[in-house]
Amino acid sequence: MKQLNDVSSLRRAVRGLSGRVALVPTMGNLHEGHLTLVRRAREVADAVVVSIFVNPMQFDRKEDLEAYPRTLEQDKAQLAAEEVDLVFTPTVEAIYPVSMDVHTRVEVPGLSDIFCGASRPGHFVGVATIVCKLFNMVQPHCALFGKKDFQQLLIIRRMVRDLAMPVEIIGVDTVREADGLAMSSRNNYLDEAQRARAPALYAALTRTADALREGRRDFARLEDEATRMIAEAGLKPDYFGIRRAADLAEPGQDDTSLVILGAAYLGLARLIDNLELELG
Ligand code: PAJ
Repeated sequence: MKQLNDVSSLRRAVRGLSGRVALVPTMGNLHEGHLTLVRRAREVADAVVVSIFVNPMQFDRKEDLEAYPRTLEQDKAQLAAEEVDLVFTPTVEAIYPVSMDVHTRVEVPGLSDIFCGASRPGHFVGVATIVCKLFNMVQPHCALFGKKDFQQLLIIRRMVRDLAMPVEIIGVDTVREADGLAMSSRNNYLDEAQRARAPALYAALTRTADALREGRRDFARLEDEATRMIAEAGLKPDYFGIRRAADLAEPGQDDTSLVILGAAYLGLARLIDNLELELG
């Protein structure tokens, strides 16, 4: 596995790869969720490139960029074991040659302004901009993203469609702990007592999905019940919504492809999770 830190050596190394190239963008501190994307990339492509970059443009003031866990040596060992071809670990200067205030941005309006975008203004501009740059740097045939960040996946799909980017976007199912908690680097912020309460978010999602499967369509009421359930478990609810899976619009009574999205604060962590749901 080759490690590259700057764009020109990355481009040279990518030119040396043969066949279909897959990109897995990450911010490091890798866990089974990330490694599942890497394994899927291996299945769908001949060569796998993983990027590790804690992207300052997508952090807002509330979340401490400095506190984000950085475990590069451990990450590289895990990626080498998965037989990744290239790992791209650029410096901030390599990615942002000019100050971020005056740097060109990519914005996907509408989808970026709700749910996680409402709680973290500017976050998805940072995500779309870095993913666009990584696509231009690596020029992969396909790129893999987790459904755990469902809104992020939709925004990237929309960006690729709107800007006619020649890359196939592949969504990968959420990897969970045994008690249902979605794996996340931010779970490291939880102490033991908080960790024990954290599965309440997933429990509220599954309860809501069950109610929808049983035929309930009083969406607002279901959202209120789930929000209350999350708060009673000792989490601070951020949002909880039942939406159309295709575009996150409010569902009508006859919509059958839905997604339930939730976020809640717990100690220093902000947990997010979602469940896709196909009603028969
Ligand atoms: P990061 O949080 O490191 O996640 C990298 C990728 O791993 C994302 O596509 C995310 O959805 C996926 N992922 C994380 N946890 C997962 C889980 N439990 N199951 C399945 N997939 C999971 O998301 C980002 O980084 C950044 O916003 C990035 C896209 C790299 C842009 O900076």
